[in-house]
Amino acid sequence: ATIYVLNGPNLNLLGKRQPEIYGHETLQDVEDLCRDVAGGHEIRMLQSNWEGQIVDWIHEARDKAAAIVINPAALTHTSVAVLDALNAFDGPVIEVHISQVHKREAFRHHSYVSLRADGVIAGLGLEGYAAAVRRVVGLLGQA
Ligand code: DQA
Repeated sequence: ATIYVLNGPNLNLLGKRQPEIYGHETLQDVEDLCRDVAGGHEIRMLQSNWEGQIVDWIHEARDKAAAIVINPAALTHTSVAVLDALNAFDGPVIEVHISQVHKREAFRHHSYVSLRADGVIAGLGLEGYAAAVRRVVGLLGQA
């Protein structure tokens, strides 16, 4: 099956942006890591800085994906639209944050997406994506 790995605003700058928080590795490294642990499943890695694009990809996932791993980035804390889109998706959803959001500013402590997510990972760095994909593979069964 296909697993969508969705990434929100500013994650295109991963590796360059605030490396003291997000590290030096890039979104390409995240993609490689996800592929390494996906077993026979296909990874579709996507990033956008636009909320509506993320919503459209979640809609697309209704037909094309068995599960979603999502780092909504700043949209985590603001987007009812992303939450509503995820509520229209039937498969497993795992929310990932590279940083430990609960150790950071108070506005990062609330997540709309967590109201839908079946699992939430924060503070494991890029390893969080691998853990999320492994979890989804466990739930879907090996392809
Ligand atoms: C993030 C945490 C968010 O608060 C922030 O807006 C991001 C990245 C993370 O991966 O740690 O852009 O989702």
